[in-house]
Amino acid sequence: MSFDGRGATPDLFADPHFSPVGSERLGEQAWLLRGWAREFAAELYASVQALLAQAPLRQMLTPGGQRMAVATSSCGALGWTSSAAGYRYLPRDPDSGRPWPAMPALLAELAARAAQEAGFAGFAPDTCLINRYLPGVRLSLHQDRDEQDLTQPIVSLSLGLPAVFLLGGATRAERQRPVLLEHGDALVWGGVDRLRFHGVRPLKAGWHPLLGEQRINLTFRKAR
Ligand code: SIN
Ligand code: FE2
Repeated sequence: MSFDGRGATPDLFADPHFSPVGSERLGEQAWLLRGWAREFAAELYASVQALLAQAPLRQMLTPGGQRMAVATSSCGALGWTSSAAGYRYLPRDPDSGRPWPAMPALLAELAARAAQEAGFAGFAPDTCLINRYLPGVRLSLHQDRDEQDLTQPIVSLSLGLPAVFLLGGATRAERQRPVLLEHGDALVWGGVDRLRFHGVRPLKAGWHPLLGEQRINLTFRKAR
């Protein structure tokens, strides 16, 4: 089976090779789906590279005026942006003035299926944030609350070097659980777990056979 990212919706589960390695419940409505996208990782990464050729990675400014360590881009109807004006979802890439590239069917389908597996049927993301971590780069503890409908879950797919994701609680002070996210893993959180604080520990140096010295995380959300 192959996806060109443009044709009909791919039927992942018709593929006899599709076998997520295992899932782990991290919260009432938070799931780690190990190996979820592993079979499709090479295709996924090729897709990401094509997206990044249209909307290159950049280190945005935080509202406080700092340069983000994580480099980002987006695809879908909307893209997440950070600037002195705050965090906003915008229909166009502020660097080029062009609409963000469309979300490839493979990405949307993998995210929707992961959400369904975690109990969120009908997830139709309108945005996918592409985060690139190089060794030493971390993401500080935060909540995702820039989206209008907080009943919709968040789906993350990880590619490349492994990272330690920190899953916290409803408050910043609550202890965080370290969760190892490896190449091909999916993480889904929503419902009562939707506003959990979370972050990523500094990426450990290493070399991934497909991605080299980096980790790429795709985060799917319904922003509007
Ligand atoms: C995020 O919280 O937006 C990204 C999480 C990750 O990189 O795993
Ligand atoms: Fe986040």
